[in-house]
Amino acid sequence: MRAPFRQLAAIWDTLIYGAPYALMQYLVRSPRLLDPEKVWKLLMRQPPAGPVFNFFRFHHPPAFARRLLLASRMRQDHRLGIAEHYDVSNDFYELFLDKKFMFYSCADFPTGKETIEEAQTIKANFILGLIDPKPGEKILELGCGWGPMMRHIAATTGDPGSLTGYTLSTEQASYVQAKFGFNVEFKNFITGDYQPEAFDKVYAIGAWEHVRADDLDGVLKKIYQTLKPGGRFVNHFFAPLTDTITPGMFAAQVFFPGSMPPSHPSQFKAYEKAGFRVTHRSIHDYRPTLRAWFDNLVANRERAISLVGMKVFNKYVAFFPGSWRYFDDAQAILVRYVLEKPF
Ligand SMILES: C[S@@+](CC[C@H](N)C(=O)[O-])C[C@H]1O[C@@H](n2cnc3c(N)ncnc32)[C@H](O)[C@@H]1O
Repeated sequence: MRAPFRQLAAIWDTLIYGAPYALMQYLVRSPRLLDPEKVWKLLMRQPPAGPVFNFFRFHHPPAFARRLLLASRMRQDHRLGIAEHYDVSNDFYELFLDKKFMFYSCADFPTGKETIEEAQTIKANFILGLIDPKPGEKILELGCGWGPMMRHIAATTGDPGSLTGYTLSTEQASYVQAKFGFNVEFKNFITGDYQPEAFDKVYAIGAWEHVRADDLDGVLKKIYQTLKPGGRFVNHFFAPLTDTITPGMFAAQVFFPGSMPPSHPSQFKAYEKAGFRVTHRSIHDYRPTLRAWFDNLVANRERAISLVGMKVFNKYVAFFPGSWRYFDDAQAILVRYVLEKPF
């Protein structure tokens, strides 16, 4: 979008949705290639203090308007946002995700010195320990991406035939089927039906963020019913720390329209209400992963632009530091849970 329309749109967005959303849209609408280092620095900078800045940063739009605006955004079908985000180009994602697995979810950097490949291996082993898969067990992944965890489980159990993955990305489904021969279905895990007591284990890694507040109890009930007695649901996701809708949360609508996870405390209550026993909870840090993806993307910028064009490249240049900032401001928390269905 050209100036002055871009500036006018930014003023309008600030008035309606607040400053964080307006800033993200302003960057994404750039008619020129963004300078990644400048964008990173801009988003790391502490905004000026003072009553006017603080008002636009924390209190505008007012709380009741934020609730109404978010509710109207949630009327969109989040499937459109998924397609827009994931069906971009598999080759593009290969440029910045780890070369070993192609995980598009938070890794573990215990020392901070690991490569993204090492960090994703540590995370994969951590989650493997939580799932504890055995040959012959029926295991379902909700939101399987490019199949990284399915590969890790299959390599451990030697039993790929017992695995099923669901995704809402056609590109991912055909990639995983063609490359690894896994059973992957293009299926919405929120609205879809499940067979009763069909699985020993269900897990989700970075997909639960798409479950909205109104859907939470219903999906948990379906997962509970599809698990065999004694089965478990392993869930790795991030969620806002409180029920208060902050102006910062609107910025996420630029990248995932129609998705907004309920707060972490309300999720915790919902698990117990669904009948699950919580047997594990750990907290992890998304920031080093976001930085590693950003660095890989920037290192491969020419190829990235040739694959997806400048507009999409710019979007990711804004997305990674914007998300880094969201976690650094402690607006959301990344957690792993094990939820057991009693015998
Ligand atoms: C951030 S990616 C994570 C992929 C993978 N688990 C990983 O760790 O790399 C989120 C995944 O969730 C899937 N997804 C999101 N909402 C979904 C839904 N309602 N039904 C099925 N898949 C969904 C997307 O298609 C994508 O595969």
